[in-house]
Amino acid sequence: MTRKILVLPGDGIGPEITAQASRVLAACQARGLDIEVEEALVGGAAYDAFGEPLPAATLDKARGADAILLGAVGGPQWDTIEDLAKRPEKGLLGLRKNLGLFANLRPAILYPQLAEASSLKPEIVSGLDIMIVRELTGGIYFGQPRGIEEREGERVGFNTYVYSESEIERIGRVAFEMAQKRGKKLCSVDKANVLEVTILWREVMERLAPEYPDVELSHMYVDNAAMQLVRAPKQFDVVVTGNMFGDILSDAAAMLTGSIGMLPSASLNESGQGMYEPCHGSAPDIAGQNLANPLATILSVAMMLRYSLGEAALAGRIEAAVGKVLDDGLRTADIASAGKKMVSTSEMGDAVLTAFE
Ligand code: IPM
Ligand code: MG
Repeated sequence: MTRKILVLPGDGIGPEITAQASRVLAACQARGLDIEVEEALVGGAAYDAFGEPLPAATLDKARGADAILLGAVGGPQWDTIEDLAKRPEKGLLGLRKNLGLFANLRPAILYPQLAEASSLKPEIVSGLDIMIVRELTGGIYFGQPRGIEEREGERVGFNTYVYSESEIERIGRVAFEMAQKRGKKLCSVDKANVLEVTILWREVMERLAPEYPDVELSHMYVDNAAMQLVRAPKQFDVVVTGNMFGDILSDAAAMLTGSIGMLPSASLNESGQGMYEPCHGSAPDIAGQNLANPLATILSVAMMLRYSLGEAALAGRIEAAVGKVLDDGLRTADIASAGKKMVSTSEMGDAVLTAFE
């Protein structure tokens, strides 16, 4: 059966990096992968064309797709849009929410070739392999009530941090199962010394633990987790946390690996449909200059093949191709180091394709 892939390039460097990832998808197609690829607008690009960051047509196509590949959204030209609901980021959040993509998997793996590019000492990061499981459709990102309003003569901004037991349990199970497939260690990150919602979070994780006796569950406060990530990151195997803490910790974890330009992600719903995107943003400062690192997006295609299309062998082939170009000393600017060959976005794409073939 032909599977439908929707590519949403988005804004900033999004179109450049998804163009390279689409070439990899096309190469998979040429090797017999039965897919149909469509493109649509999201984020600022969609706002400019239709006045909406998530037009109904895009959402419909997304609902009908087996998997979605997204570049990035946002940029300074849209930061002044008064109505928050029209900002590019709402396009991305709307996709996550409407498709129920609650489980965000953010692997932070250090390619040994890039140990030099990390801001930490090689011995601290060598062999690093962490999986952050971030809850993606709840928490303070979506809690109601929210807003900015006038109270007693001044403006007050407010958001609601809320998780139901079932939301916590659902992401907890994804994380426990992930730990079972990996190093069997799960660290749940919360702020249970201050926030009730995370007291409940911790309780639910504890309640689930006996069902996964082979997994060792631990708990950590988020401030300590941030510190431990840069002090001794290899203590972690799988980390599970809520939406906002996961947003923050995954950027920190990404940087351990040398560059946020290397990290893919998968966002899955209960029926196995997935959206795949690099963890980094739209990098408006380098947009349109053929400078961005396309590897996170190319590796997101590998995650798509593995998690949504059941094509683990092709996924492995893409990952091996990325390893090969790094072995060959090719580096985009973000991972450049002395003695290596600096390449552009499209040259990196060329090299991955050659290695893939
Ligand atoms: C991410 C991004 C998004 C988030 C933004 C663009 C809304 O930072 O995917 O990590 O905060 O989730
Ligand atoms: Mg983020």
